[in-house]
Amino acid sequence: MTSRSARIAPDVFIDDLQRETLPEAVRVLATAFRANPLNRAVIQASPEACERANRFSMQALLPVAIRHGRVRVAVRAEAMAGVAVSVGPGRFPLPAPPWIPRWRAAFGQGLRVSARWGEVFDALSAAHAIEPHWYLASLGVEPGSQRTGIGSALMEDWIRSVDSEGMPAYLETDSAANVRFYEGFGFRVRREVEVLGIPIWLLWRAAEGSPGRAARGPGVQ
Ligand SMILES: CC(C)(COP(=O)(O)OP(=O)(O)OC[C@H]1O[C@@H](n2cnc3c(N)ncnc32)[C@H](O)[C@@H]1OP(=O)(O)O)[C@@H](O)C(=O)NCCC(=O)NCCS
Repeated sequence: MTSRSARIAPDVFIDDLQRETLPEAVRVLATAFRANPLNRAVIQASPEACERANRFSMQALLPVAIRHGRVRVAVRAEAMAGVAVSVGPGRFPLPAPPWIPRWRAAFGQGLRVSARWGEVFDALSAAHAIEPHWYLASLGVEPGSQRTGIGSALMEDWIRSVDSEGMPAYLETDSAANVRFYEGFGFRVRREVEVLGIPIWLLWRAAEGSPGRAARGPGVQ
């Protein structure tokens, strides 16, 4: 279902990712995260090399997310500029990709990188919120379009559907600036953990209308 992001960026259209435009979504997410602290700690290479490695993991993960989660894309002037991947209540973790894409990703990005992603996944899974919730697994805007309202448009679209189900929401982020961005959408820091030496903030948004909505959410465990 296409929706127009009327309040934040009227020229941005939000829609479900289709299989035909999957390569565009791979490109957007691979470039969006190329300089993020956790990306750099896992891949241990230049932003350009991070982007190349990210393409392999996104190619394996996005088809699974389309099938078992929700992938919404933001389009401006007919070009995809942002992608939001989320996972519905009780559906985390998503199933692993099939063997062939998984091996392609592991060898494409390198076995050490792949092992470090495994460590990150295990650490974040152990800290994952246990109450039923919507999980924002990934939100990325291509660098040239950041700070122009695309991420907010995707958040507005996602929060609207989360609220329509009366569910809380959860996400992790590796940047203090992003914490402020998410606080603007009603998220509050619940806990901070360190993964591969990088601080990761775990953020919770209580369900719309619930007593905890305006205050801090309850503890994770
Ligand atoms: C974090 C991220 C998703 C935010 O998306 P975005 O499109 O850059 O966000 P927006 O433009 O909607 O808003 C970001 C900020 O820019 C401001 N902004 C929005 N439109 C603006 C404009 N036209 N000019 C200047 N600033 C603008 C917003 O007010 C917001 O400020 P705030 O953080 O103080 O609230 C994006 O920057 C990104 O992909 N970063 C790299 C990957 C990443 O860290 N993803 C999140 C992982 S949890």
